[in-house]
Amino acid sequence: MIDSKDFSEFLANRRSTRAFKSDPVDAKIIDELLEDGLTAPSWSNTRPFLVAVASGEVRDRISKDMLERWSVGSGMTSGNLKDKIKFLFTPKAWPLSDYPIMKPYPKSLQPRARRVGKELYGLLGVARGDKKARDAQWAKNYEFFNAPVEIFVFIHKGLSVFAANDAGLFAENLMLSAHAKGLGTCAQGAVAIWPKAVHEEFVIPKGYKLIYGIAIGYPDEAEVNTFQANRIGPEEISAKAK
Ligand SMILES: Cc1cc2nc3c(=O)[nH]c(=O)nc-3n(C[C@H](O)[C@H](O)[C@H](O)COP(=O)(O)O)c2cc1C
Repeated sequence: MIDSKDFSEFLANRRSTRAFKSDPVDAKIIDELLEDGLTAPSWSNTRPFLVAVASGEVRDRISKDMLERWSVGSGMTSGNLKDKIKFLFTPKAWPLSDYPIMKPYPKSLQPRARRVGKELYGLLGVARGDKKARDAQWAKNYEFFNAPVEIFVFIHKGLSVFAANDAGLFAENLMLSAHAKGLGTCAQGAVAIWPKAVHEEFVIPKGYKLIYGIAIGYPDEAEVNTFQANRIGPEEISAKAK
């Protein structure tokens, strides 16, 4: 049995990795991570999700394609008319995601999202109004932060929210298993903006929708990996008694 204090510490020590060494990850290790992911509970044991594991040339092609899309797609939030027009006339760059990735957050949740953005960009020395620097940092999502493996996670639309829930349980088990092996991970909603880029490389059965990706590899010593996102306490998620 694992000591429960050690286990809590292990959980707390997992942090999103946003800079990876280019060292490859053995396919056998990826299989072990997937197996550990599949020990998570699931709605009627259906496992209503599907993974597309991209490494090597496939990974490189998807990354190149997404970077191309982003180089024009970043124009959608630009104050520059020329960038905006280019975006409007480049259908490939349109964020035709299966789920509304770019939708504004509910008001009550905005302060938490703003805080993590402010603190992460603060660590990286990126100023709030510096769109160019912010876009360049965001673009790193499409290099998968240099991770040699990106796992794209699809969920079956027929089980709606339960499929997303089960994918999350699977993904967390997988990410903790990676953590136990000295690997870093970063869940990436950013890569779900263009499902087509993944469909061009993998056979995705009808009904499966792209929800996010997970970058996997060995963490680099870069400063960004020292980032510690704020963690709220139980009182902040507890309903008050009537
Ligand atoms: C579904 C999901 C999508 C995410 N998408 C991104 C992303 O696109 N880019 C990114 O840098 N981090 C992304 N993250 C990482 C979160 O920002 C991170 O988990 C959060 O700030 C807490 O930090 P921690 O993972 O280090 O504890 C995502 C996390 C989840 C669960």
